[in-house]
Amino acid sequence: MPHPNMEGVADAIVEIAYAKVNVALHVRSRRDDGYHALESLFVFAGDGDRLEGQATQDGAIDLIIDGPFGAGLGAGPDNLVMRAARALQSYLGQQRGAAIRLTKNLPVASGIGGGSADAAATLRLLARLWDVRIEAEELAGLALDLGSDVPACVASVTQLVTGRGEHLARHAVEGLEGLPMLLVNPGVGVSTASVFAGWDRQDRGPLDAGSLDALVRIGRNDLENPAIAVAPVIADVLAALERTQGVVLARMSGSGATCFALFETDDALAQAADAIRWTHPAWWVMETRIKGA
Ligand code: C5P
Repeated sequence: MPHPNMEGVADAIVEIAYAKVNVALHVRSRRDDGYHALESLFVFAGDGDRLEGQATQDGAIDLIIDGPFGAGLGAGPDNLVMRAARALQSYLGQQRGAAIRLTKNLPVASGIGGGSADAAATLRLLARLWDVRIEAEELAGLALDLGSDVPACVASVTQLVTGRGEHLARHAVEGLEGLPMLLVNPGVGVSTASVFAGWDRQDRGPLDAGSLDALVRIGRNDLENPAIAVAPVIADVLAALERTQGVVLARMSGSGATCFALFETDDALAQAADAIRWTHPAWWVMETRIKGA
């Protein structure tokens, strides 16, 4: 169904809200402001949610949501797409509005960006629709107000992320980009705040993102245990991924519940996906690869 405000419009613009994956996520301390200081290597999948938009003249922001995970996600002012659009509009003093369709392909509250990637893609989409240039630093400030992961999602390239998510550095790791990747979610939504609240306050050491080998051997996701305490099925997902043939790395992303596995070959990826779909037909499975710059 075309968006009511987009029918017959040839110049709708599309942005993909690429799924975010934390290859490693080290929690170093709890800050005085209640957020946690992290060291994390963020990568992005080549696929994600889809945003399509058209500028409107009346200033209204009009959102409709469809797609496999669209049901149950409100399109009201709390939706991160709406919040991002309003934030950019008021920052710019922009008179125009937008009609936006969000096709929700990624599970909600699942540790792979979801809402954060949608917010970041909204900023990119509207900057194009309204034909405005915004300084990267100003965009980063707007993005951080929308959520800790939103600044990294604006560029959606491999980055070393520190602080609560505000310090970003482009970071290439040889052999990482382009790797086949499987995302698996067992169908439970997990609250980020409750998982962070369960962290045991043990600093297990810094992140070494110098090589893929170091990321695999000494990288961790320090939120795995608190997430498993909230949703024990995450341990089953990790075990299933670790059992697959040809797996390079299996780990949870973000605060869960989505876990990822990296493979050396497309064949190994396809076989692992088939195996998991066969043994756990209710789980969400996405075959993708780590996106390059
Ligand atoms: O920034 P965002 O709104 O995505 O964070 C959601 C919640 O996750 C925060 O309210 C906080 O409880 C927790 N969080 C944290 N440390 C971070 C990021 C998020 O404690 N670095």
